[in-house]
Amino acid sequence: MKLMFPMKKTLIITLSSFVLSTAAVADTCSETALYGYMESMSSNMQTLSRSVRSNDFSAAQALMPELHDAVANAQSQTPFSLRDNGSEARINQYRQAINDLATLFDELDEALAANDQRMAATVLNNIGQARRSGHSTFKARSC
Ligand code: HEM
Repeated sequence: MKLMFPMKKTLIITLSSFVLSTAAVADTCSETALYGYMESMSSNMQTLSRSVRSNDFSAAQALMPELHDAVANAQSQTPFSLRDNGSEARINQYRQAINDLATLFDELDEALAANDQRMAATVLNNIGQARRSGHSTFKARSC
């Protein structure tokens, strides 16, 4: 009986550190809320680009509310790569880049409302650039 207590204690400590380390391992970049918003943007952007190429501006416009929602939600997130030791300045830099993306979505609204395929193509190109630069600066390598 005397021996039971330390054993129990060891068992509890072992089990709880197992639970804690499992939680830490499960917390990967692809499980973040931000990742989900990004995936939603990605699939909507692919469909939207196809609609613009085939001159279907109303189909493209129908996708804009979800894109605006996703970028607004991304605004309040912190990238996985900055979670543990990202400075406030870096996090603000991320938020600014997401703001710029929101502005590009506003420009896309204008191009679609004007049925302006050339302007839409230019804005889509700029969105592609914002994506590349955002990812090379803020996306974790493991992501
Ligand atoms: C419309 C433009 C964008 C699209 C379609 C897009 C799409 C995606 C996708 C599909 C992922 C999942 C990983 C992958 O497959 O690469 C992702 C992850 C990520 N994206 Fe974007 N992205 C865009 C713009 C941006 C911008 C401008 C930033 C930064 C300001 C950004 C920051 C990130 C980060 C940090 C992750 C990793 C998730 C995390 O850290 O939790 N993305 N993005």
